[in-house]
Amino acid sequence: MRFTSQLFLLPLAAFTAAQSNTTYSVKTPPLTTNWTYEVGTNPWPEYPRPQLQRSQWQNLNGIWRYENAASLNATEDPPFGQTLENEVLVPSCLESALSGIMETDRLYSWFSTNFTVPSSWSSNQVLLNFGAVDYEATVYINGQQAGFNRGGYYKFTVDVTNYTKFDEDNELLVFVHDPTDSGDYVIPMGKQTLRPSHIFYTPCSGIWQSVWVESAPADFITQLDVDANMDGQVNITVHSSSGTPTPVSVTIYESGCEEAIATHNGTSDSPFQFSVSSPSLWSPDSPTLYNMSITFGSDVVRSYTGFRTISKGTVNGVVRPLLNGQPLFMFGTLDQGFWPDGIYTPPNREAMVYDLEVLKSLGFNMLRKHIKVENDLFYQACDQMGLLLIQDMPALRPLQSYTLANCTSITYLPDPDQQAEFTRQLELLVNQHKSHPSIAVWIIYNEGWGQIIQGYPEFGLTALVKSLDPTRLVDSTTGWYDHGAGDFSDNHHYANPQCGSPFYSTASSPYDPTRIGFQGEFGGIGNNVSIEHLWNVQEAINTINQTYEIDQTLDAWSYRAHKLLTELLEQTEMYACSGGVWTQTTDVEGEVNGLLTYDRRVLRPNVTQWRDDIEALYAALKSRASNETSGMML
Ligand SMILES: *[C@@H]1O[C@H](CO)[C@@H](O)[C@H](O)[C@H]1NC(C)=O
Ligand SMILES: *[C@@H]1O[C@H](CO)[C@@H](O)[C@H](O)[C@H]1NC(C)=O
Ligand SMILES: *[C@@H]1O[C@H](CO)[C@@H](O)[C@H](O)[C@H]1NC(C)=O
Ligand SMILES: *[C@@H]1O[C@H](CO)[C@@H](O)[C@H](O)[C@H]1NC(C)=O
Ligand SMILES: *[C@@H]1O[C@H](CO)[C@@H](O)[C@H](O)[C@H]1NC(C)=O
Ligand SMILES: *[C@@H]1O[C@H](CO)[C@@H](O)[C@H](O)[C@H]1NC(C)=O
Ligand SMILES: *[C@@H]1O[C@H](CO)[C@@H](O)[C@H](O)[C@H]1NC(C)=O
Ligand SMILES: *[C@@H]1O[C@H](CO)[C@@H](O)[C@H](O)[C@H]1NC(C)=O
Ligand SMILES: *[C@@H]1O[C@H](CO)[C@@H](O)[C@H](O)[C@H]1NC(C)=O
Ligand SMILES: *[C@@H]1O[C@H](CO)[C@@H](O)[C@H](O)[C@H]1NC(C)=O
Ligand SMILES: *[C@@H]1O[C@H](CO)[C@@H](O)[C@H](O)[C@H]1NC(C)=O
Ligand SMILES: *[C@@H]1O[C@H](CO)[C@@H](O)[C@H](O)[C@H]1NC(C)=O
Repeated sequence: MRFTSQLFLLPLAAFTAAQSNTTYSVKTPPLTTNWTYEVGTNPWPEYPRPQLQRSQWQNLNGIWRYENAASLNATEDPPFGQTLENEVLVPSCLESALSGIMETDRLYSWFSTNFTVPSSWSSNQVLLNFGAVDYEATVYINGQQAGFNRGGYYKFTVDVTNYTKFDEDNELLVFVHDPTDSGDYVIPMGKQTLRPSHIFYTPCSGIWQSVWVESAPADFITQLDVDANMDGQVNITVHSSSGTPTPVSVTIYESGCEEAIATHNGTSDSPFQFSVSSPSLWSPDSPTLYNMSITFGSDVVRSYTGFRTISKGTVNGVVRPLLNGQPLFMFGTLDQGFWPDGIYTPPNREAMVYDLEVLKSLGFNMLRKHIKVENDLFYQACDQMGLLLIQDMPALRPLQSYTLANCTSITYLPDPDQQAEFTRQLELLVNQHKSHPSIAVWIIYNEGWGQIIQGYPEFGLTALVKSLDPTRLVDSTTGWYDHGAGDFSDNHHYANPQCGSPFYSTASSPYDPTRIGFQGEFGGIGNNVSIEHLWNVQEAINTINQTYEIDQTLDAWSYRAHKLLTELLEQTEMYACSGGVWTQTTDVEGEVNGLLTYDRRVLRPNVTQWRDDIEALYAALKSRASNETSGMML
């Protein structure tokens, strides 16, 4: 059905060429998912910020207008009051089919829309919120600059009260600058590149997460930091816009109903504590959450938390991660969050949660969110479903060299200003996400990318993360240049694992039994599929043969997977292995090593076999841990 209607539309679009780039329609991506044509023009209708919800809000997602710009100089003469060239779907990446643009090299862009707020909001502040804009956003309201933000993965709020008219149209204009890896830029960008090749993919530019306005009182809550532990102790900081210590009241409700089980009065802008007696603890097997409401003057917000404690301890002679005081084997996938139709933006919540459901049904208790940060609804879904998260900091340009046209090769490392910006964004990552019960571990560096080798900055950054968030573990360097920082001794080895084992093949991350033995990446075995499940871009297809290993049939792939999982099991039984990360959740562009193909239509694993293999890992750790526990809590 869809296929024929697409065929029918093509000549029509060609015929009306003059109009076709002004009116929104989904472009045809190199590969679709089941959700590509389900998105429509009111994407992401959900309230975007589940841990700080206000009742008076308005979603600004939908059809906006867009125009490419030539350079940073465009901001000298913003196109106020003009109709920009194209319609575009917000949120989306300009490089994605869902945007309706699907163009590359979008370094400078203008976006515009109109919004109206009711006069009933006029006695309050009008807050304009962006989930994420990659990479820099300059925000104008009714011809005046109202705000600026740098950093492609972080939410930000612009107080637009002074520029807003009530009960009439307000013009919102946004200038976006996204250099990715052009020129000498060294910025946090993860796997995005302007030159996609095998493990580096199509970039995302523009407003790629939800935009919304809300009404809040003059002094309002800007952020909530909530930690609730296995002893029922709640530690909360209510940050306010004025920063003036003011009374706040916190209520926690019984899980699944509106019966208050604890109320506590405290003061904003510094931490305070209270306790809840015998809460049901949060864990992957039983992900109990509790709703909360916070009253701060006339600002009343809803949130939620889960009671659990992450720590480490020596259990029967082996250093282990502990959840609620018990050792556990953390087993997950490398989860990159790329989509053939949306690139960085999942087509919708259902699609995003589908990946998580597949992981959960195979028995994984964790995923490693790989050098990308997702929207808040993703973290909420992990909180609700019981999936632990290892959250990576989005990496700077990888250390791998680029070969220039004149055949010289060049490696990019951050200069002091770029390193300071990386550090600032690492702080944002931790501060914006530290209230999610599912997040257990922060990763600072992946495989040495952007990691300065002189002076070992990972030690200072580890101390910084621990000071911002003393409740979690830090995996300072996952793969490659391990100088002893952080809680993990984390090796990457393909295809077979070398986890917490007294043998290794990379001198840069040797066995270290004083920290948690962990396999941050392994697996990566591939299986090619027919063209209808491949990212149909010849340059990507040409790189499939760079996969570590290609297995001809799914039977052979499952056989190999079983062998690799068995090696990990043996290392858990014999040595100090406490968890692993299988590469990867899905295929991405020219990589064909996912549990799912890139379109999510083929699931490669023999589900019975994988469930058994994963259960065996959990059982092996439990058995070794059961003999005696000697606590050495964090
Ligand atoms: C839109 O159309 C104009 C004129 O036809 C063309 O110059 C421009 O490149 C098109 N833009 C896109 C994004 O297709
Ligand atoms: C996609 O749609 C097909 C056909 O309706 C269905 O069989 C399949 O289960 C769907 N896959 C996903 C991932 O939803
Ligand atoms: C931007 O403006 C400056 C100063 O006006 C000028 O020197 C520069 O060439 C302009 N750059 C571009 C790309 O137009
Ligand atoms: C905003 O509203 C004005 C007037 O109502 C209209 O001309 C313009 O096209 C609108 N802009 C967008 C981006 O919708
Ligand atoms: C709004 O304008 C008032 C009066 O000029 C000023 O005090 C206040 O700081 C402004 N608020 C913002 C968010 O710009
Ligand atoms: C409460 O949390 C803050 C960080 O948000 C931390 O500095 C402080 O030590 C914690 N207090 C307790 C008692 O855990
Ligand atoms: C929290 O409240 C919402 C409604 O506001 C409800 O749908 C949800 O089930 C509640 N969650 C818990 C864990 O009680
Ligand atoms: C907490 O504060 C609220 C108002 O913010 C007040 O009604 C209530 O009595 C206070 N409770 C206690 C125990 O002080
Ligand atoms: C190659 O090109 C780069 C960038 O233009 C330049 O910095 C470098 O000096 C060139 N190397 C040689 C050997 O010409
Ligand atoms: C991989 O495929 C490309 C294009 O098909 C080819 O040029 C290249 O030689 C192949 N590389 C290997 C290692 O087989
Ligand atoms: C899946 O693996 C199990 C063994 O774990 C085996 O009995 C079964 O035949 C396999 N199924 C398929 C379809 O290969
Ligand atoms: C540890 O416990 C397992 C079973 O729980 C047992 O088989 C094993 O012998 C014990 N090892 C030691 C060193 O006590």
